[in-house]
Amino acid sequence: MDTETKLYPVSTNPLFFTPTRSLPQEIAVIGAGTIGPDIGYYLKSALPGIKLYLVDVVEEPLKNAEKRITGYVQKATQKRKMKEDQAQTVLENIMYTMDYEHIKNCDLVIEAATENIPLKQKIFDTVEKIVGEDTIITSNTSSIPADRIFSAMKKPERTTITHFFAPAWRSLPVEVIRWEGANQEAVDYLFWFFAHTGKAPIITDNAICFMLDRIFDNWCNEAVYLLDCASASQIDSVVEEFVFAGPFFVLNMANGNPIVIETNTLQMEEGSHYEPALILGSVEKWHTGRPGSKVEVSADLKNTIRDRMLGILFSQSFDIIDRGIGTKQDLNFGCQVALGFKKGPFDIMRDCGEAEVTRIMGKFQQERPGFPQAKKPLSDYQGFKRFLLVDEVDGVKIITIRRPQAMNAISDEINNEILTVLKENIDNPSVKGFVISGYGNAAFSAGADIGKFPQTLGNRDAAVRYAKDCAQVQLFMDQMEKPIVAAINGMALGGGLEIAIRCHSMVATKNAIFQFPEVTLGILPGIGGCIVPYRKWPQGAKLFHEMISLARRITAKEAVDIGMVVKIAEDYSGMIKEAVQEVKNIQGKKQRIHEGKLDIPEVPIPDQPMAGKLALSKEAISIIAKTIENGAAADTFADALEIGYQGSAEIACTDAAKEGISAFLEKRKPEFKK
Ligand code: COA
Repeated sequence: MDTETKLYPVSTNPLFFTPTRSLPQEIAVIGAGTIGPDIGYYLKSALPGIKLYLVDVVEEPLKNAEKRITGYVQKATQKRKMKEDQAQTVLENIMYTMDYEHIKNCDLVIEAATENIPLKQKIFDTVEKIVGEDTIITSNTSSIPADRIFSAMKKPERTTITHFFAPAWRSLPVEVIRWEGANQEAVDYLFWFFAHTGKAPIITDNAICFMLDRIFDNWCNEAVYLLDCASASQIDSVVEEFVFAGPFFVLNMANGNPIVIETNTLQMEEGSHYEPALILGSVEKWHTGRPGSKVEVSADLKNTIRDRMLGILFSQSFDIIDRGIGTKQDLNFGCQVALGFKKGPFDIMRDCGEAEVTRIMGKFQQERPGFPQAKKPLSDYQGFKRFLLVDEVDGVKIITIRRPQAMNAISDEINNEILTVLKENIDNPSVKGFVISGYGNAAFSAGADIGKFPQTLGNRDAAVRYAKDCAQVQLFMDQMEKPIVAAINGMALGGGLEIAIRCHSMVATKNAIFQFPEVTLGILPGIGGCIVPYRKWPQGAKLFHEMISLARRITAKEAVDIGMVVKIAEDYSGMIKEAVQEVKNIQGKKQRIHEGKLDIPEVPIPDQPMAGKLALSKEAISIIAKTIENGAAADTFADALEIGYQGSAEIACTDAAKEGISAFLEKRKPEFKK
């Protein structure tokens, strides 16, 4: 059985599940030390109405936990990430307690105590005697396999590991371990629960250190072994090519030395090469600078550090895949989103090329014998979709854009991957059609990747080329006979909405929002956004004017009223069912996008155009109005699209675009001059 089928027997998208249990009303976190309060704060901010019990055996950490959670809430309200009334509810109903009896009605108990098997077993023995038969019980261990902790329990089938990453209230990934003692329902429920509450859970096998800590702990341990030839700050600065912060900086931040000693000692069951460096036991803080500090490193030393650190990274990555501990997608994703790598290990390998990876691994084998090497040709570790989950329901391919760290914003690579999945399946007679959706409950997609836009600013040719490159997916969808349905699970903005409206039909959840916010960036939707809505739903023309020139948001209900959306579902799994049904409904009945000229009302240009409290650029709006009107007057759909591409290029050369995009990237409000 391949790893994906073993770990994800039903689907790789957690929200396809219809949960078998309701959301927990009461949750306990055992251990108020380092990570426990952060897990508690995540749970309370995701589900403010729950009762949360933070349990510890001593009072001091409980007092500190209360201070920490109150501080987080204050910060969130100051930054306007949380409203005052919500802040109040988050802080209510948290009990900081030393009495286990309080947790008796909890539906979920997460243990986050010290990494010590007898201690954990004692905690679970106590918990099991107090809580109900159906309570799900998990441990946040970062290294101990589930069977060693839970096998002695009376009902191990409702237990597993749920491993969070620091800071647990913000870091998206949670490893959920599928082990032979747990029943599939409990693991699948947790997989759904974490995604439903805003996390990005990944399922891994029950190996020592699971998946991501095999990378992280060995990465740190190897850095420490390199101290015989380089300083901590030299090592940190060299590997900043690959990570946002070097291993010594992170070890300082996380008080990580004792953790690496523990986890690597455990990994020594797999061989003495995992032995933790001795000096980890004698050092409290490493002498290293902040990320980005300038450090002198000779070219030779740089190569030594680089090769060794890539050696350990690649070795662990091969091993994880060869042993089926996790999938390539999840490893690549988790390293970036949980561990602060700038690119996933398989992206780094792709950039290096096979010859260079082979050289690095040859050298690593000589310097560090015993560590795993690739068991398959290097090409076998490539060829997967970095940003898409692809599942199948009833013969329909469901494509989920998974980039929750950027609200599923669409990069060039995502565009290419979508096109590849469509092409790979278009001639397969067993595939009835496609559904495209976004990961999580928040966003279908927050638009095209704004990080890419500066390259097109002030450069007409580059802007047209960019629009046309992005348009390849849409043009392919236009000529597909097999249906493709957009399933809008939250915000569909800008470039994301341009993909959605080009699908052959659309369904949505009741919280879906549709918006073209481009004008707030001083630009326009240039990949069909000024053209397609009018040709598909002319009855909505006035609303589209407001959406495109004033960034007006519309709800799922309004989208139904103008015919854009055909069905609204209560939740994500309901939406997928509707989308699959819609693929079947429109089989063989695809409607062509209107070809000829269109009669649409003039686009009004207000004297002082505003989007909420933001004053917009009149210059940008006049280019938008001209593009919409000329697009509608075009004789053919292809001509109209061309007018859209040219409009996006014209606007990319304005001051408004420069200001709007810089402001977004600098996280400030734009100030448009004209
Ligand atoms: N391109 C690139 N990154 C994007 C993005 C986009 N279109 N939309 C969101 N992101 C990133 C943010 O930069 C942020 O990254 P960071 O955590 O590294 O800083 C992350 O996604 C989360 O977004 P954030 O703004 O912190 O979340 P929020 O809940 O406060 O706001 C939005 C959500 C969608 C309202 C806001 O991100 C936004 O306005 N995005 C741009 C939408 C847009 O103009 N799209 C049109 C482009 S075609």
